[in-house]
Amino acid sequence: MQIRTERLSLRPLDAGDLEPLASMMDDPEVCRFIGDGRPRSRERVERTIRFAEGLWRGRGFGPFAIERADRFLGVCLLVPIACSGMDPSDFDARGPEIEIGYWIAREAWGQGYAPEAARAVLRWAMSDSGAALERVIAVTHPAHERSQRVLERIGMRRVGETDAYYDTTTSLYTTPDARGS
Ligand SMILES: CC(C)(COP(=O)(O)OP(=O)(O)OC[C@H]1O[C@@H](n2cnc3c(N)ncnc32)[C@H](O)[C@@H]1OP(=O)(O)O)[C@@H](O)C(=O)NCCC(=O)NCCS
Repeated sequence: MQIRTERLSLRPLDAGDLEPLASMMDDPEVCRFIGDGRPRSRERVERTIRFAEGLWRGRGFGPFAIERADRFLGVCLLVPIACSGMDPSDFDARGPEIEIGYWIAREAWGQGYAPEAARAVLRWAMSDSGAALERVIAVTHPAHERSQRVLERIGMRRVGETDAYYDTTTSLYTTPDARGS
């Protein structure tokens, strides 16, 4: 399973990505607007990778590693979202909504990689030959304008602010053909 874009190659995240992913998620700037805003331990990154591998096996979609010429640049997530009141690390309890997200290594910011990857993953997610999802959502920290611009650039529609996910207030976006929030 591989998606190619003009500059990027996207494939299922797996255990071979542990080193670059752990190094990226050890950066406070990368984690500032993700979850509790703290860098992620190696053990937590290992759990994320196990979750990714399980999703790909069980559902046929999951987080993608983003590479350019075999260099790891980050991750484009396509995962069940954690509703408020749910333990986000209880991956089996997540859903039913599917969210898209992206984590790019800091040295690769500002080159349009997140929108290029997310646009391709979204197209694949909604197509019959891909994951055939009817709707994909995304949430960001309300102050995370850089991420919101990525979502707008890939054609997602802003719904408004919500407390429905991750036990916090987020800005909610959805794929445009969805009705309601
Ligand atoms: C948010 C994020 C995914 C954006 O990815 P990206 O590949 O840098 O996206 P872009 O290249 O389109 O840049 C986004 C904006 O940052 C600006 N930017 C330019 N150079 C930059 C730099 N050196 N550093 C940061 N931002 C820069 C871009 O101009 C662009 O602004 P614009 O939309 O007004 O043109 C990336 O910063 C990131 O991974 N952050 C940490 C993880 C995160 O917060 N993920 C989102 C969780 S909701």
